[in-house]
Amino acid sequence: MEVSKHLLDRMTHYTTHVAAVDAEHLSILSLADRMRRLKGNDLLNAVNQIVLLWKANSATEEQLMADVQYPYSANHISDHLRLTLFFKSLPNNYGGELLHRESDILQRMFEHIDHYDMPMGQYIADKNSFKKGLRVAIPL
Ligand SMILES: [Fe+2]
Repeated sequence: MEVSKHLLDRMTHYTTHVAAVDAEHLSILSLADRMRRLKGNDLLNAVNQIVLLWKANSATEEQLMADVQYPYSANHISDHLRLTLFFKSLPNNYGGELLHRESDILQRMFEHIDHYDMPMGQYIADKNSFKKGLRVAIPL
């Protein structure tokens, strides 16, 4: 997977500290970044691919939230649905206006990660460290 240094630099801020989720984000963001240089069928394939990557990422996070009984999952899931509509609209809107769409994808992804995925990651990290603390305090 080809990832630009600029994107990697931004990702150091936009981390959820959940390795699987960060890896999926990087795949989506690097594909959106690469789309700047694609044309014709390659571009259309990339658009379709990004919809699949987004759906897989949403499913990963929704499973994680269910596993930890995340209290804000309803808001997070509704933003996944909102962005799913956006991603699904991309192939339909494929055409002359796609130039601005690539940066639109990056912008929407970074906003979603910032507002929803990073707080989820923090909650999971806190819950895990609490469990570890319990293990230290009460050895089994
Ligand atoms: Fe998310």
